[in-house]
Amino acid sequence: MPGFAKPYRPAQAGPVHRQRSHASDPMVRACAAGRGNISVLDACAGFGSDGLVMSDLGCRVTYLERDPLIWLLLRDRVKDLPGAWAHCADAQDFMAEGDRWDVVYLDPMFPLRNKTALPGLGMQHLRTLSEATSEEVDMQQALADLLQSARRAAIRRVVCKRRAKDPMPDSLLTPDFQVKGKMVRFDVYLTS
Ligand SMILES: C[S@@+](CC[C@H](N)C(=O)[O-])C[C@H]1O[C@@H](n2cnc3c(N)ncnc32)[C@H](O)[C@@H]1O
Repeated sequence: MPGFAKPYRPAQAGPVHRQRSHASDPMVRACAAGRGNISVLDACAGFGSDGLVMSDLGCRVTYLERDPLIWLLLRDRVKDLPGAWAHCADAQDFMAEGDRWDVVYLDPMFPLRNKTALPGLGMQHLRTLSEATSEEVDMQQALADLLQSARRAAIRRVVCKRRAKDPMPDSLLTPDFQVKGKMVRFDVYLTS
């Protein structure tokens, strides 16, 4: 990719490594995915690292990514997994089609911060590629819109990954509870 010295391909090892400690994984706890056997829409899938943890646990995971280049890598990564589907679509359009999932998982791109440390290489590539697809939008409004659609599409809960220090969405979108990790938190909205 322009601006990067070496080609990048997401590794398969990361999620498997995470699965060993899945019981304590805050994302798994937030999604109540520890026993598998639930359907999950990973609506902002990127390279699918989070969704792959849930696939490993036996969940049926629909992966969604709107950027065609990122989606091609994602599709390659999940193509042999049972109960996994990868679609190239915008989450708002896809969720408007009327299908429902036990859990809708949202991990939209975090806004850039004034910080010298760069995120991991995979996230740097994701950011560069997805910036080409996304228009200049109000991130808070985009998140609020996504959450509202997700609440209609989720049978049990919506889980939204945020940086630990991110502000809460406005008061109408206050989560039912949060599961906190070191750097990120998971805002959980119950729908049943
Ligand atoms: C932070 S990354 C996701 C990382 C992912 N959770 C992982 O584990 O690899 C966010 C991704 O969501 C995608 N995205 C953002 N808004 C979207 C939307 N409305 N519909 C579909 N994909 C979207 C971006 O293109 C980007 O690839």
